[in-house]
Parts: sequence; C-alpha cells; structure tokens
Amino acid sequence: MIKISPSILACDFANLERESKAMEAAGADMLHVDVMDGHFVPNISIGAPVVAALRPKLPMMFDVHLMITNPLQYLPDFVKAGSDRITFHFESDDDPKQVIDAIRGAGKEVGISIKPKTPASVLEQLLPLVDMVLVMTVEPGFGGQKFMADMLPKIRQVRDMANAIGKTELDIQVDGGIADDTAALVAKAGANVLVAGSSLFKQADYKAGVANLRRAAETAYDK
Ligand code: DX5
Ligand code: ZN
Repeated sequence: MIKISPSILACDFANLERESKAMEAAGADMLHVDVMDGHFVPNISIGAPVVAALRPKLPMMFDVHLMITNPLQYLPDFVKAGSDRITFHFESDDDPKQVIDAIRGAGKEVGISIKPKTPASVLEQLLPLVDMVLVMTVEPGFGGQKFMADMLPKIRQVRDMANAIGKTELDIQVDGGIADDTAALVAKAGANVLVAGSSLFKQADYKAGVANLRRAAETAYDK
C-alpha cells in the first residue's frame, strides 16, 4: 500500500499547526518530522518540544526521522513527545541493534535509514527487526535537493531482501527529491512510503498534490 508522508521541513514554520492539519485534511497518511542536530548533518531543524506541542493537535501518525548522533541519548524525549514511528540512521550509532531494541522497548514502531553511500547489505541482519527501511534519495540535511536516481537499484535490493525472508509487508520509505515523476520511479523499484517536502508544500492545492503523488506511485508500484 502506498503511503504519503509530507515533510514539514518545507512548510511555513510560523504556521506549523495549520500546515500540518492541512496535510492531514488533504489525505496524507503520516507526518514526516525531520530532526537535525547540526552534527550528524550540517543543519539544525526542530526537536522533541516541537513534536510534543504539535502531537495533541493531530490524530495522524507522526513519522519522526532522526538525523542525529547518539540517538539513544535523545530517544526518551521523542518517545515522550508522542512519536509513533521513530527512524534513526544506521550510520549514527555503533550498535544499531541496541537502538532498534530501545525503540521497540518503548513501544514504538522502528525505522532504520541509510545514507546514499551506505549499501543495502548492512541491513541484512537488521531487516527482520524493523518496521521500515528509509533509503535516502539525497544526502540528508536539506530539503529541495535533486533526486539521486542511482539509489533506485538499492531500493530494489532492499525490497528483494525483504521478500526473500518473507517480510513482504515491510515499509520501504524514500526521502529526498520526491515529486510525481520520481514517485513513479521509486515505486517501480519497490518503495511504498513516500516522503515529500518541497514538491508538496509548494502547491496551492495540497489535496490535489497528495492525490497526484499517490496516483503516480500506485500506478507504478512493483513489490
Ligand atoms: C532531508 C530530509 C527530508 C526533506 C526532503 O534530509 O530528510 O525529509 O525534507 O525534502 P524534499 O522533499 O524537498 O527533497
Ligand atoms: Zn526526512
């Protein structure tokens, strides 16, 4: 099933509640929250207090993307803030298994993300333990970057790895440069959860934006 996760990094932060509610009303399946620490990535965005403030305003699922070093240190804050699914970066901790266990132990859904230069093979042992794999389709840190088409074989590789162990319902998320055209490419490669920031928030009609993105992906989806 295709799911659309608008990235609030591209919204009007002065109207975060209004923008998020508008995406919910437009039919988005979850809300993608990009957390950047200025260390793991060269940019600083928002933290747990913002998640905590926004959470009670929206019933929709909070899809929290941690681009931070030492995720274990900050995990309790994001759990307490009301995240539903917490995705951390494979590259951000020496012991990813421990981070997975901690997120799971806190009763949250688990996502693991890999940067463009990280091969799919690092996920081999971890795949059975997670709900979602996030294949970055840009270098993490900034919105509005160009989609990296050379990530398409990696998406297919993750989907094939998941199918091979019978985990056919694994969510494979893509993040970075996703618009109607690239949505079709990633869905054809096996991705089913699409993060979109600038391409969605720049549109005058969010409902049409979400619907068009979903249609482009659904038509092409090949698991
Ligand atoms: C980048 C973030 C993305 C970002 C995507 O590091 O993880 O979620 O908001 O932005 P677009 O869709 O504009 O490429
Ligand atoms: Zn993101």
